[in-house]
Amino acid sequence: MTRDFFKRTSCRACLAKSLTPVLSLGRQPLANAFVRAHDLTKSEKTFPLAIEFCGRCSMVQLSHVVNPAVLFADYHYLTSASAPLIEHFSSLANTIASHVSVHDLVVEIGSNDGTLLQALKGRCRVLGVDPAKNVAWRAVSLGVRTIPTFFSNALAEEIVRKEGAARVIVANNVIAHIDDLDDVVRGVRTLLDAKGFFLFEVHWVGNLIGKGGFDQIYHEHLSYFSLHALSTICTRFGLVLADVTVVPIHGESLQVTVRKSGSPSRRVHSLLQKERKIGLTRVSTYRTFARKVETTRRTLRTLILDLRKEGKTIVGYGAPAKGNTLLNYVRFTSKHLTYITDTTPLKWDRFAPGSHIRIVPPERLRTHRPDYILLLAWNYAPQILEKEKVLRKRGTKFIIPVPSVRII
Ligand code: TYD
Repeated sequence: MTRDFFKRTSCRACLAKSLTPVLSLGRQPLANAFVRAHDLTKSEKTFPLAIEFCGRCSMVQLSHVVNPAVLFADYHYLTSASAPLIEHFSSLANTIASHVSVHDLVVEIGSNDGTLLQALKGRCRVLGVDPAKNVAWRAVSLGVRTIPTFFSNALAEEIVRKEGAARVIVANNVIAHIDDLDDVVRGVRTLLDAKGFFLFEVHWVGNLIGKGGFDQIYHEHLSYFSLHALSTICTRFGLVLADVTVVPIHGESLQVTVRKSGSPSRRVHSLLQKERKIGLTRVSTYRTFARKVETTRRTLRTLILDLRKEGKTIVGYGAPAKGNTLLNYVRFTSKHLTYITDTTPLKWDRFAPGSHIRIVPPERLRTHRPDYILLLAWNYAPQILEKEKVLRKRGTKFIIPVPSVRII
């Protein structure tokens, strides 16, 4: 792809050509493009951010696709920066380990800094694939073999030639980042051995429009999957969507097991039924969601402007990508939030894209206690509220922005 972005005209899951626009969040910079101080005066690239619905297979996807070379050139998301994710990955590693022996190959697509594979090392042969070079080298330095490129059918063929087929392929929070899903699913079929399984986690669109937040919409997330859409893709490639569990990651994610043979479990049937019941297969459901998003924007903006008028100090907590969708959609800047804390050292002293609010280490909260904290990393609310007990006892209030604005 030579252009910075293009308009996608077909459904990624079933290839249908008629997609219905449901929500636009305007033009936004890339949610992970944290700005260095010396670049603050330069103009930022922005791209349309909107979602569309496929009436044929219930897929929800971004209207425009940003060139991955632009999107992942300077990537700052580290799995190991989030303690709850490390915990989740270590239990996932134990589950995988119980299905493999030391000679089996486990390949992770989107292996990031190697958090999952490191937990599996020694229990099987591990191989990571991740195109974000600045992140992949971290995995390599931990001794996790990582191919710093995009997963594709061609790469799958090469891995099979050099290493043999994989017993397990894992892909967490990465399938939604891929535009040419056909090539990746074909690659999975090429790489997987007959008895193996493909285990992946994706954010569930039912969470996005229900208990979750619209802020999970950003350019990296090209697809917002229902089980209906996932099962359409599997069927097209002759794969079996064998099992599904809803896991509490990024709100609610689907942990899906795909095999080359067998039949779907009862859990698959009942989730498909639930999706129909809650309206995930109807466009009207997404239109209602779009109206709720607009209400959240108005409520949050009024609240923060009123608090600032009263002279209250407000800061952000966590600088996740989703936080930037929210800040830019509601049009907040450093006039509204003094700073944002984050546990990721790579983000410190950079500025949030678009809003240009400075990111600082969490210690700043102890020296400059704010009156209000906008919880941008709201998906970790229980852990964070517990961790910040002392701050709350001293009077700092947390504002949870989604699915509807709450103060605690
Ligand atoms: P996350 O929600 O995992 O990712 P995404 O960017 O995909 O939306 O990001 C959580 C961010 O919040 C990450 O930058 C680390 C930060 N964080 C904190 O600063 N403090 C915390 O206690 C936790 C749990 C996360």
